[in-house]
Amino acid sequence: MQVNPLHPLFAAELVGADLTRPPSPELVRTVEDAMARYGVVVVRDAEITDAQQIEFSRAFGPLEIPSRPKDAPWPRRMARELFAAGNLDLDGHIIPYDREGQNLSKGAERFHTDSSFHAMPTKWSLLLGVETPPPSAGGDTLFLDARAAYDDLPQQMKDRIEGLVGIHDFWQGRRLAGLKGEISEEQKRRMPFGPVGHLLVRTLPYGRKALFVGGHCTGVQGLNEAEGLALVEELYAHATQDKYVYRHPWRRWDMTIWDNRCTMHAATPLFSDAYRRDMRRTTINESGPETSAVEWMTAAA
Ligand code: SIN
Repeated sequence: MQVNPLHPLFAAELVGADLTRPPSPELVRTVEDAMARYGVVVVRDAEITDAQQIEFSRAFGPLEIPSRPKDAPWPRRMARELFAAGNLDLDGHIIPYDREGQNLSKGAERFHTDSSFHAMPTKWSLLLGVETPPPSAGGDTLFLDARAAYDDLPQQMKDRIEGLVGIHDFWQGRRLAGLKGEISEEQKRRMPFGPVGHLLVRTLPYGRKALFVGGHCTGVQGLNEAEGLALVEELYAHATQDKYVYRHPWRRWDMTIWDNRCTMHAATPLFSDAYRRDMRRTTINESGPETSAVEWMTAAA
């Protein structure tokens, strides 16, 4: 196995890993070490099934199960433990980019960290490109290094934000990302997320600090609404500068792993509705039971 950097600050590819077999201690150590150093790791040629993706993911932490009400439909092409990204509907047909219903998923085009709108201890996301468009067709994913962004802040700002708690709210975040119109009671019932608090500055298990202000972060506890949003926007603008960003052009069977605690990511649109983009994501937590965010919050209430 070989780890090759993809960007001057972070992000690497892992070549020569075999994800079709139960993960060996050597593979687990290689991935853990690369993730601590690079924050984003692209495992190349991971031609695997949903079951193998689940087994590989579980080697690094308990799965976060998608929060679907029992009566909600899910894409039957996929195991229930996986989240769907990409441009396919429940039956596997292409959803045209400009269709009204896509309004919600366009929120992923603002830099964010997965699941920050709930209280579970989210660790990594692992996104597999099962069907990917040709490179010229768009659909790249952008990543940024929130550790380097934190390191570069002036000391005065570091002192100001240390210990402050950001407010993360799914629906408010979608509004900031451009969601228009009424949010229906049915939508809120299906996605009853936030607001929850997370520190603006997170310390990783290996000691580095990172800014935690992805797109679901819309305020700061103890500040009024306008001041909180202004501070979040200032930090967000700093972190999303080009110098911190790596653009990933997908190859089929790339499995891109990112650490949600120290990176942010953003989807980019496809330039044509002629291409299928079937992306399947597992999300893992640092600890806790394998459950969904809704079940977790219900149990805690
Ligand atoms: C995501 O935001 O989790 C998906 C990113 C992508 O589909 O490019």
